[in-house]
Amino acid sequence: MSDIRDLIDPVGGYVSGKIFVDEDIYAQELEQIWQRTWVFLAHDSMLDKRGSYIQTYIGQDPVIVVRQKDGSIKAFLNQCRHRGMRICRADRGVAKGFMCSFHGWAYDLGGELVNIPHEDTAYPAGIDKSKLSAIQVPRLENYNGFIFGSWDETIPPLEEYLGNAKYYLDGYIDRYDGGMEAIAVHKWVLPANWKFNVEQPTSDMQHSEISHVSAVEALASGSDTFNRKTGRTKIPTGRQFFSPYGHGGAFFGKRGKEIPNTAPALIEWENTIRESIESRLGEYREVRGHMNVFPNFMLLGNYTFRVTHPRGPNEMEIWSWAFVPKDAPDEVKESIRVDVMRTFSPAGMFEQDDAENWEEMQRILQGAKARTTGFTYNMRGVAPATDEDGYPGSSTAHVYSDNAALNMYGFYRDLMEGHSWEELKKMRGGVAEVEDADFQAVMPDDATEFRNVPAAVDVDTAAALAQRS
Ligand code: FES
Ligand SMILES: [Fe+2]
Repeated sequence: MSDIRDLIDPVGGYVSGKIFVDEDIYAQELEQIWQRTWVFLAHDSMLDKRGSYIQTYIGQDPVIVVRQKDGSIKAFLNQCRHRGMRICRADRGVAKGFMCSFHGWAYDLGGELVNIPHEDTAYPAGIDKSKLSAIQVPRLENYNGFIFGSWDETIPPLEEYLGNAKYYLDGYIDRYDGGMEAIAVHKWVLPANWKFNVEQPTSDMQHSEISHVSAVEALASGSDTFNRKTGRTKIPTGRQFFSPYGHGGAFFGKRGKEIPNTAPALIEWENTIRESIESRLGEYREVRGHMNVFPNFMLLGNYTFRVTHPRGPNEMEIWSWAFVPKDAPDEVKESIRVDVMRTFSPAGMFEQDDAENWEEMQRILQGAKARTTGFTYNMRGVAPATDEDGYPGSSTAHVYSDNAALNMYGFYRDLMEGHSWEELKKMRGGVAEVEDADFQAVMPDDATEFRNVPAAVDVDTAAALAQRS
């Protein structure tokens, strides 16, 4: 195993470029990250009938998620136990069972092997079908309609895994009495490492004012938060949060004055159902900005929800849904759909900017020199605090910060080192590492040039910088 401890230093603010390009590290991720975390598989609305199924992935492992006859959900590896062909080749549908298209072995909705062609004559000594069922995903949980699965039988329950991130997640997905539904999906492949995508909604709000300046100008020029002259948002205040198991996110504004960044038709409709939102959440919680549930379930404020599946160190496959409140009027749903298409679909204005950055970074990392460069995560002008201003868990009172990225890479590193979940709970269960001033990590030689970057910028300087627009 690569010595990942030399490549990631959450306290010093250093991450090696190697983790985004190295083949051995990628192979290690498939085992240590993708087999040991909770991964979003499907939403109830994608499996509305008995026999409804959807094909998805946990890492690179194809998985079929199926609504059973009794309404429960099962998920199993989409790999035939005969010679390993994909059992089901459709993306989604409604079925009574699944027959492998190679030699015809047939499985029921729960993945039990029920038929082998010529069983009586070709296997005269008999064959025990009960031992050849599809491999089950052992842990499945449904959180507010969102179904997650894990290969790891020892992983803590999903709610414990989410921890304080639940407060922020609920602000997106638990605000409507009728729940949510997925109404559209785009899938595409991008030549860049999966972590470039997930780091962004976890932690990087700041790139927006530079990378997305033309899109922001086109969309927000009438808004009082946007300065046409500088191309920057006037209010880079807000909050970034993170939780021990790598989740993170951010939103603009401050308590009681959070800035909604969703479609106008949605805001208008929400004003008519404010009481029910308040009674569900206990308050009108406007924490929608962007967030990621580690490793790869991303939620954006305009109801673009997405996953990014790893496809080798140099490639990811993005699946991006438009989610809507199920009870919303049709025109609200349509306005969300159009907004998602306009912003974060493959041709979306923001998506193209992001893809350009990630692809170019990946191309550069092919160089022998470039792949050993350390990247700088030292935007830490405001120190993280715990339960500050009524926001649960660890958060930073500034929307631009690298703290959540450092926390994510800290958890990533702990997982990659192969610590058991019992150990991880002890290591990560309390105060997150980026808050622990005593922690001293060993910096690799090639990080020398980054030692001179101050780990914490003076708070007043940061506040002045933040207000410069
Ligand atoms: S590989 Fe599936 S039936 Fe042979
Ligand atoms: Fe972006």
